[in-house]
Amino acid sequence: MSERRRRIFSAPGKLVVAGEYGVVEGKPAVVVAVDRRARIFVEAAQTWSFAAGPGATPVAISEASSFVRACFERVEAVCGLPGPCAVTADTRAFAGAGGKYGLGSSAAVSVALVTALLALCGRRERDLVFQVALAAHQQAQGGGSGIDVAASVVGGALLYAPPARLELVPIPPGGELVVAWSGASASTQDLVSAVASFWRDRPDRRVAFLSQSEGCAEAVASGLRAGRWEEVAAALRSNQLLLVELGAEAEAGIDTPGLRRLVEAAARVHGAAKISGAGGGDCALSLAPVEVARRIRQEWSAQGLAVLDLAIDPRGAAEELGAEPDLAPATSTRGDRMYLTD
Ligand code: PMV
Repeated sequence: MSERRRRIFSAPGKLVVAGEYGVVEGKPAVVVAVDRRARIFVEAAQTWSFAAGPGATPVAISEASSFVRACFERVEAVCGLPGPCAVTADTRAFAGAGGKYGLGSSAAVSVALVTALLALCGRRERDLVFQVALAAHQQAQGGGSGIDVAASVVGGALLYAPPARLELVPIPPGGELVVAWSGASASTQDLVSAVASFWRDRPDRRVAFLSQSEGCAEAVASGLRAGRWEEVAAALRSNQLLLVELGAEAEAGIDTPGLRRLVEAAARVHGAAKISGAGGGDCALSLAPVEVARRIRQEWSAQGLAVLDLAIDPRGAAEELGAEPDLAPATSTRGDRMYLTD
């Protein structure tokens, strides 16, 4: 390989299917990786630099975002750093003209970057990528369950409970993910803080929520494993009610008019859709047999709602071998920005 060859590493985004908030407290949750991938381009150079998007001005690593600095620090602690490279990130798949969708761009770009830096040191163990990316991401974000990091590293559908439970969940044949954006971007960290402060005052409500949330996540996973779609739908509906109730009790704004429209529209065609992740905006989703998924998608489109064209990505973090996509500057005005807050 020539020293000047550009190498490309990528990692998928994610959507939480069930068990959000519970997973912050160590309970299980179901997550899927989605085929919107963060890409990291690396090329040997005189000094280290980082560009937050194709066409963005490269800066020294010390001037890059806290997520990027944390990835470099954590990799360096494991294996030192290889010879200097110019690094460019591309997270354009994680946002549209109206804003970011909440597909876990900060975790995906952290995982892709850690995958790249470790690979340059000759380290490719998946467990190591997970541990290093998790530590870096939590350092920069100040916490979080790590569910987004797990999905970005492993890919597919997972049942995850921190710190170490990670099980692949098979999607039954004919099952499909259907997703729409609520029209607003949300701050997961603000919502998680609001819920934590509510639970400090009401430990009884915390205990009740955690047990019900765990029940929903386990029921989604066991319904998927057994191909019992009614069980999956019932668990998605219960989890949606649980999140709406939590938002009301904690006065946390988890449910929003945009999310409610999506869930209600799906219900009109007998679909079970729910808020995905922290809420407050971002996306709603359903996981359903193809025929039900088609009805939901049609109803959302008929209502003018923002259906997203994405699917479960079975591939976790990886080096992109073969074709080298063009690194031309973004045509979108948002293309030089990296989304590091969801
Ligand atoms: O809002 P999202 O899609 O990033 O999901 C957050 C999930 C939470 O459980 C609320 C937070 C976490 O760190 O797991």
